[in-house]
Amino acid sequence: MSDDGRMHVPGPDVADPVASGSGQGAGQGPAHPHVFPRITSFRARRSTISDKQQATWDRLWPELGRQVREGDGPAGLLDTESWFGRRAPVVLEIGCGTGTSTLAMAQAEPDIDVVAVEVYRRGLAQLLSAIDRTSDPESTSAPVTNIRLIRGDGVDVLTHMFGPGSLTGVRVFFPDPWPKARHHKRRLLQPDTVALIADRLRPGGVLHAATDHQGYAEQIAEVGDAEPRLRRIGLDTENLPMSVARPVTKYERKALAGTDVAELLWERTR
Ligand SMILES: C[S@@+](CC[C@H](N)C(=O)[O-])C[C@H]1O[C@@H](n2cnc3c(N)ncnc32)[C@H](O)[C@@H]1O
Repeated sequence: MSDDGRMHVPGPDVADPVASGSGQGAGQGPAHPHVFPRITSFRARRSTISDKQQATWDRLWPELGRQVREGDGPAGLLDTESWFGRRAPVVLEIGCGTGTSTLAMAQAEPDIDVVAVEVYRRGLAQLLSAIDRTSDPESTSAPVTNIRLIRGDGVDVLTHMFGPGSLTGVRVFFPDPWPKARHHKRRLLQPDTVALIADRLRPGGVLHAATDHQGYAEQIAEVGDAEPRLRRIGLDTENLPMSVARPVTKYERKALAGTDVAELLWERTR
């Protein structure tokens, strides 16, 4: 996004809300108000991916990907054990962009299963291709098998696809800051969403947010601290159930030279 040009992520700059059923865009009237009832934290745009990415998508998406909405209705509860083929702690990343952090963190923690959510197909296509490259015989890393992808709105995913206490972690890295005051209602991390995240985390589960936007960092801190089921913890907290070591993405290097990044962490207490 951006009104101030600071939060543009290379790559996932497009979405196809009709095909994805993921929501209407900013400023557009709701084409299906019963399906897209709320203000979304993302804009709708057209989607294009390369022929090679499309071929990878056609091959891998049926196994590794899901839509949060098909037709008019939301998907049902996810059976992550059957999707991943094992029982392991599940971490949900909302707004994974091109998936640079997703891939690196999943590679660093092969015992954790990561579900990456994004509205922009191009970002998911880039992540799928990156996952695919790890299976190349010439790849220097082990094949990555612990990532699944969901195309759609992260709030929908939390609401419909995960039950209470089912997540070990939720990651939200560089959520669009919607810097203009009249757009603040579009920010993803509002009290309702943070309450939903707290509900979906298991006791001891972690919410990890990062942002370079000071005003949004303050809002996230306030909202997280006000949620009674969450307790603020530090980056150096020991024995967390998932890693909070976040790699610096290309976006971050390019866009944030000299800018402070706030890392905000909470643990679900009860
Ligand atoms: C500024 S980008 C950051 C991308 C990535 N996390 C990174 O650090 O490079 C924010 C991303 O969040 C996605 N996004 C915004 N609202 C979302 C929502 N409600 N559900 C899923 N993705 C969302 C946008 O499509 C965009 O790709």
